[in-house]
Amino acid sequence: DWTMDAYREQAIAAIREQVGDRKVICALSGGVDSSVTAVLLHEAIGDQLTCVFVDHGLLRLGEAEQVVKMFRDNYNLNLIHADESALFLGRLEGVSDPETKRKIIGGLFIDVFQKYANDIEGAEFLAQGTLYPDVIESVSFSGGPSVTIKSHHNVGGLPEKMGLKLVEPLRELFKDEVRALGVELGLPPSFIGRHPFPGPGLAIRCPGEITREKLEILRKADAVFIDQIRRHGLYDDIWQAFVAILPVRTVGVMGDGRTYDFACALRAVTSVDGMTADYYPFSHDFLGETATRIINEVQGINRVTYDITSKPPGTIEWE
Ligand code: XMP
Repeated sequence: DWTMDAYREQAIAAIREQVGDRKVICALSGGVDSSVTAVLLHEAIGDQLTCVFVDHGLLRLGEAEQVVKMFRDNYNLNLIHADESALFLGRLEGVSDPETKRKIIGGLFIDVFQKYANDIEGAEFLAQGTLYPDVIESVSFSGGPSVTIKSHHNVGGLPEKMGLKLVEPLRELFKDEVRALGVELGLPPSFIGRHPFPGPGLAIRCPGEITREKLEILRKADAVFIDQIRRHGLYDDIWQAFVAILPVRTVGVMGDGRTYDFACALRAVTSVDGMTADYYPFSHDFLGETATRIINEVQGINRVTYDITSKPPGTIEWE
């Protein structure tokens, strides 16, 4: 629409004015805010921008590849794929306390980003997808520290520590405006319309100890659940949907044999801003079909439950 077109032109001019011929780095998570920031910056300053995509090994099935491919193929932007999953998963080994997990992930994220950023010769600016609600701080995503640099720079002072100036081209926008700008900039609507995904990723959907085995099972189950939701045309009615793998094995029967595998919980909620949420009222048919598919298609799960807790008193994520 014309408003977004005007905003886009104005934002591009402002970025060029601020940055001149200097270099900018940006942490790209694949989420809407950082993606729109990156594409807008790229349009404004092209090669002067380098994005770092930190892969902590806690992403969903095929997600890292999809994000990297989308940005490399469609935008030809300088993108470093920092595959640090071994580092993150190594440090998380044996850790089951939710806050400790978040601290480890948040701290490592900063270290890793800094390491890659230091290799980019002459970078003077750090671009962040800070939105208007972040600026006025009337909305803050709860549940502990986020691994986005956004929520750390206020407290941690990363840009200051690194001697970088901030570029925040979305600071006047609300989320729906960021989505509109993203579409205006040519990001696929299906990409822009994706459910929010938390910075700590699958770590907070794997209560208790995180193991590679559990993550692999979780990824497969989650992919089946999301596929079911898409097939039934429900994706856009839901704010967030995912599977959590429970830290318990249960007994089941399969053919003539006894199974002893993990139980999982499906989570799907409606919400306006993530602050409050209602569980999604799936039909029993949908739930039954989904449970059958997960148990048949995902080795390692033999029991499926549906989480019918609203927020409050529950949180959306399990940790
Ligand atoms: P909760 O679980 O607190 O989640 O009801 C509310 C919303 O925030 C997301 N969330 C996070 N997002 N870093 C993020 O970037 C985080 O540490 C984090 N924790 C929760 C959650 O996915 C939901 O949309």
